[in-house]
Amino acid sequence: MNFKRNILITGGAGFIGSHVVRLFVKKYPEYRIVNLDKLTYAGNLANLADIEGAANYVFERADICDFERIREIFATYGIDGVIHLAAESHVDRSIKDPFTFARTNVLGTLSLLQAAKLYWESLEQKFEGKLFYHISTDEVYGSLAMTDPAGTPAPFSTQASAGTRHEAYGNAFFTETTPYSPHSPYSASKASSDHFVRAFHDTYGLPTLVTNCSNNYGPYQFPEKLIPLFINNIRHGKPLPVYGKGENVRDWLFVEDHARAIDLIFHKGKIAETYNIGGFNEWKNIDLIKVLVRVTDRLLGNPAGTSDKLITYVTDRLGHDARYAIDSRKLQKELGWEPSLQFEEGLEKTVRWYLDNQAWLDNVTSGDYQHYYEKMYKGR
Ligand code: NAD
Ligand code: TYD
Repeated sequence: MNFKRNILITGGAGFIGSHVVRLFVKKYPEYRIVNLDKLTYAGNLANLADIEGAANYVFERADICDFERIREIFATYGIDGVIHLAAESHVDRSIKDPFTFARTNVLGTLSLLQAAKLYWESLEQKFEGKLFYHISTDEVYGSLAMTDPAGTPAPFSTQASAGTRHEAYGNAFFTETTPYSPHSPYSASKASSDHFVRAFHDTYGLPTLVTNCSNNYGPYQFPEKLIPLFINNIRHGKPLPVYGKGENVRDWLFVEDHARAIDLIFHKGKIAETYNIGGFNEWKNIDLIKVLVRVTDRLLGNPAGTSDKLITYVTDRLGHDARYAIDSRKLQKELGWEPSLQFEEGLEKTVRWYLDNQAWLDNVTSGDYQHYYEKMYKGR
């Protein structure tokens, strides 16, 4: 079969990647989607069971650091577009094991860039019609102040306040021109990979794009991240470890809204540009946790307040960034993207998904999911 495009999505067995792969496979039957993933602890092919047999979907188990293998994959499938999500993504792990983060996030990205460059340069049309789209995080910008210039405490933005109220806070949000100032080994490795991507554009003219997104939440997130970890712990009556005083602020976006933004930017974004992606939805951790506990108790059929006692303040994360908040007006104005869900709606949908899919959670927490590839793919 001849496909209109051949798109390589890296990290497609992970949380965000699986939503992007599903969206592209279903929406674009005329594209071939090649999902390249190493299947680390964070990769779970069961996330994609519903599209596994699709005619326009291929899975390749590979490490992005394996340069020769990546070159082969580019040539085998005639890759003309890359959406690069593969990464080590958890801050706490990066504090314990920074080397793995530098290897995958920095060297792995470099290996993909070089493979794309060499393969595309070997073609008659060279870089024409090609795109290397790199998915990054708002954490590269560092940490924002907890008060605005007039001393008003964060959080500032809500979806309702996007635009007008936000103007009043001047530089209190991350914009596309905020200087990079990463603090954790995770964000330092992502910042480094972003710089490599831009360097490949500036040096060789590789057609690249970078987006920086706020914290995602939704189905299929590995239960080491705040929201799925806490839902799982509430389900088992286990403590909910709140780092420090729970005052840190994060800006939350429903994962399907991120995937929609990626689709839009992949097709309509300008080469060499950066777009911030976020829904003007800042929450102090402790406020979010209280809502999460209330919603989870309600959906479990527990009397209100049942799981409040599980909230446990623990030693703070090292170098814990105080506040992230994204200004996504460029994306909204230039490409017309808007988040589709209000946070309470998205959170309820998310809790419901984890409670309806407890087998998924059990599979992940027991480690059983790691046998999926052997069962389903070996010998094919
Ligand atoms: P994730 O940890 O859920 O998934 C990462 C995927 O990459 C996994 O499937 C894993 O197997 C794969 N992978 C890891 N190392 C690899 C390697 N060496 N070779 C090939 N595959 C490898 O991550 P996520 O939360 O879905 O994040 C995806 C991307 O989005 C990352 O680049 C992350 O930095 C970025 N991001 C995440 C968030 C968030 O809130 N989760 C926010 C903004 C940006
Ligand atoms: P996390 O989901 O790890 O995302 P990130 O560190 O990339 O923002 O954490 C979100 C926030 O929740 C962050 O401020 C750290 C905090 N947190 C806790 O308080 N307890 C936990 O067990 C976890 C995992 C995170």
